[in-house]
Amino acid sequence: MEDKSRNIQQMFDNIAHRYDLLNRILSFRRDVAWRKKAIKLMDIKKGQRVLDVACGTGDMITELRKQIGFVDIVGTDFSKNMLVKAVEKGVDADLLAGDAHFLPFKNKSFDKIMIAFGFRNVTDKEQGLSEFYRILKDDGRLCILEFSQPEGPLFGRLYKFYFRKVLPFMGGIISGNKNAYEYLPESVYKFPKKDLYKAMILNAGFKKVEFNPMTFGICDATICYK
Ligand SMILES: C[S@@+](CC[C@H](N)C(=O)[O-])C[C@H]1O[C@@H](n2cnc3c(N)ncnc32)[C@H](O)[C@@H]1O
Repeated sequence: MEDKSRNIQQMFDNIAHRYDLLNRILSFRRDVAWRKKAIKLMDIKKGQRVLDVACGTGDMITELRKQIGFVDIVGTDFSKNMLVKAVEKGVDADLLAGDAHFLPFKNKSFDKIMIAFGFRNVTDKEQGLSEFYRILKDDGRLCILEFSQPEGPLFGRLYKFYFRKVLPFMGGIISGNKNAYEYLPESVYKFPKKDLYKAMILNAGFKKVEFNPMTFGICDATICYK
């Protein structure tokens, strides 16, 4: 694993104990609604096999269980402490350690793949996308739920202030790890712009991409069709 990835892994190991609480506070509970909407866009049918990449403490899996019920779910993440939290919470899925760059699954083994707030941390995005494409069945779908940059002069500026100043301050106090909450806005601003992002997804082999902005564009559920 390259150094950058290892630092990200350590960072999530360090904040795992406070991760859920901070998510709820800093997003004003919108994170729950964003996951719900992302699942709705995926047209997941009972009995399908779904992979949650970078599953963290398992909130996407919990939401999948609530909405779809009988579905075969596998969760994977490279942070051991995040996975331990998921187990402590009683998250109902097969959970295993795995790096999004080299997923331990056979070709065409999932109907649907979700990755929520994880893709911006994948250091080699082309490699990640090609792995997702490889393990998706034909006609499968990938959902990349990720923060985005809201546009508009007033809201955009207010949001920037919140994201760059308030969030790292509060995140630092509650988690005891200011760096992690400085890294969050940094990684969102470094995320590839829409045209490049779309081109990367299509280059990986996906035939269609749909953007679904939410909450004034703070977040986007990008659906990629194999
Ligand atoms: C912001 S958390 C999101 C967790 C969860 N998906 C959610 O919706 O709350 C990002 C997660 O991505 C994981 N992650 C980052 N890069 C990864 C990689 N290359 N492979 C596997 N997991 C990764 C981190 O360990 C962390 O648990």
